[in-house]
Amino acid sequence: MIFTVAIDGPAAAGKGTIARAVAARFGFAHLDTGLLYRAVGIRGGDPVLVAKALTLADLARDDLRSMAAGQAASRVAVIPEVRAALVDFQRRIARAKGGAVLDGRDIGTVICPEAEVKLYVTASAEVRAHRRWLEVGGDEAQVLAEVVERDARDMGRADAPLRPAADAIVLDTSVMGVDEAVARAVAVVEAALRRMHP
Ligand code: CDP
Repeated sequence: MIFTVAIDGPAAAGKGTIARAVAARFGFAHLDTGLLYRAVGIRGGDPVLVAKALTLADLARDDLRSMAAGQAASRVAVIPEVRAALVDFQRRIARAKGGAVLDGRDIGTVICPEAEVKLYVTASAEVRAHRRWLEVGGDEAQVLAEVVERDARDMGRADAPLRPAADAIVLDTSVMGVDEAVARAVAVVEAALRRMHP
C-alpha cells in the first residue's frame, strides 16, 4: 500500500510528536525532513554540494536538535538548489510501500501534493516558543525571538514557502493540546484508510 501522511507547520508546533505517534499507530515509516536541512546547515562548506551528497548517516548526528542547527537549517533552506537536491530522497520515502509520515514545511505543497492525508499543525508563537524553551532552556524571550525570525524566513522565502496546502486539515495545538491533536490526526488517517479500503 502506498499512503502518505504529510504534516507541515511552523517550528515547535508539535509536528514531530504527532508524526511519531501516527507512524507508530499505523506501522508507517517516519521521516523528520527538518533533519535534512539541519544536517546540511550545520555541516558548513558549500550547502548545495553537502545536500547532494547527504546520506542517512548524516541524520544521526546528535547536535541536530540545537537552536543553532535550526537557524542554520532555515538559512540553507531558502536556497533552491539545496531544496532540489533533497526532493528525490524525500519522495522515495513518501511513496515507498507500507505507508509513510513525513513532517516538515512543504510536504503537502511541494514534496508530495498527492499525499492521502495532509495536516497543517500550528500554534501561537508564544506557545511554541514556551515548548521549545522547555526543551532547550536558556532565555525564553530569546527563544521566542528566534522562533519568530525562523517563521518569517520560512514563510517569506520564494521557493516552497511554509503555508497550508489548500486541502490540508489545520490543527491548532495552542487551543487543543498535543494529546488531542494526536487523537484527531489518528482519526483523520483512519477515515482516509477506510475510504481507500471500505
Ligand atoms: O523542529 P522544528 O519545527 O523547530 O524545525 P525543523 O522541522 O527541524 O526544521 C528546521 C528548518 O528546516 C525549518 O525552519 C525550515 O527552514 C527548514 N525546513 C524546510 O525548509 N523544509 C522542510 N520540509 C523541513 C524543514
